[in-house]
Amino acid sequence: MHELQQALDAARQRYVTANPKSREADKQAEQYLPGGNTRTVLYHDPFPLTMVQGEGPELVDLDGHRYVDFVGEFSAGLFGHSDARIKSAIHHALDHGIALGGVTRYERELARLLCERFPSLEQLRFCNSGTEAALMAITTARLVTGRDKVLVFNGAYHGGVVKFPTGLSRFNAPYDFVVADYNDVEGTAQLIRQIGDKLAAVMVEPILGAGGNIPGTRAFLETLRRASREVGALLIFDEVKTARLGPGGVQTLLDVTPDLTTLGKFIAGGLPTGAFGGSAELMACYNPKQEGASKHAGTFNNNVCSMAAGVVALGEVFTPQRAKEFFEWSEDYRQSFNAMFAEKSVPMVCNGLGSMFAIHFSAKPLERMTPRSPDCHLLNALLHMELLLDGVLICSRGDMFLSLPMNDTHLDRARNALMGFADRHQALIAAVVKG
Ligand SMILES: Cc1ncc(COP(=O)(O)O)c(C=O)c1O
Repeated sequence: MHELQQALDAARQRYVTANPKSREADKQAEQYLPGGNTRTVLYHDPFPLTMVQGEGPELVDLDGHRYVDFVGEFSAGLFGHSDARIKSAIHHALDHGIALGGVTRYERELARLLCERFPSLEQLRFCNSGTEAALMAITTARLVTGRDKVLVFNGAYHGGVVKFPTGLSRFNAPYDFVVADYNDVEGTAQLIRQIGDKLAAVMVEPILGAGGNIPGTRAFLETLRRASREVGALLIFDEVKTARLGPGGVQTLLDVTPDLTTLGKFIAGGLPTGAFGGSAELMACYNPKQEGASKHAGTFNNNVCSMAAGVVALGEVFTPQRAKEFFEWSEDYRQSFNAMFAEKSVPMVCNGLGSMFAIHFSAKPLERMTPRSPDCHLLNALLHMELLLDGVLICSRGDMFLSLPMNDTHLDRARNALMGFADRHQALIAAVVKG
């Protein structure tokens, strides 16, 4: 659509003019990093901003602009950028040695804090990322069941080599994946029965995050629980992102308990980590005090900075009570944004739950993964660019993550920016959604 392309070109031109230093930095980075980039999700046209400083829920870029940060490190930035208690925990750990190469009190304490909060966790093991946690959860299921097939869902993202934006891919780790449709209760139940005693695990995000922040329905998640149990397969919840929703993630909100859970992102206060766990019986396969146990390794599994930061982050900052309050506050905001779109009769919706949602151009919330039309992609790019020019940073694919240091003023900035966008482009949006 010509008008839409024109609006996007104009916004990008303003962006280029406003960000000469980021542009130059991007050009220089091209020499040693392909496309100047080492993390594809951070790339967007015409070039990404180079960030130099984070304070609370705000970021400052190389050209001196200040943003309210709703990228929120794709949910790992729950604590914002400068929580004094977390910083002090990291400094304290550093003062006692960088890499100790021994067990420390920190991983024991962080494991306790996590196991006390997530109903499915009696024991867990740490690793280095959410991706690694996914790989290890699958590995655990294969070890324990002696089976190979793993049921996953279209649109799911469990990590850099465990992702299904468009079904199976050569890019993935070579496990025996079978792909079903998210929130398809009947079809998935049938598929599980069909695979039967070859199925090691069903792995699911309780909210399909990168696939559009589509909440799994209760019927869907309960069906996965029942059907996987019937065929003797393990149910894995990837709560890497959703663990932030309330004190014990979606498994607590919906009272559906998986066999294994993967965690990551925020659980080390914003430092690198991952974790996977389940019942003590399942996790016993890694017990080195037992003969024949599997050897789960990883030099940085218990790195002191991450573990020490996590202990304070979960033990003192994101306590169960704070998690509950934050969930309610952010869910009220999400719903108020949707009420604003409805009042204006603009077909936009914040899909998701609480502090993680994605903006879609649609008259109603999405329950199934829906591929975006080319015009919808352009509209999304326009939204991203114009919000950014308004000082409101969201992910280029439309996701927004709220963080603990945000207050009503930050959320009102987002509301005003969204409202301005909806007002300016009401006709364009309606035309794209109508198709
Ligand atoms: C649901 C989910 N699982 C797993 C991962 C992978 O985590 P990491 O990037 O730490 O490998 C991500 C990352 O975005 C995620 O969103």
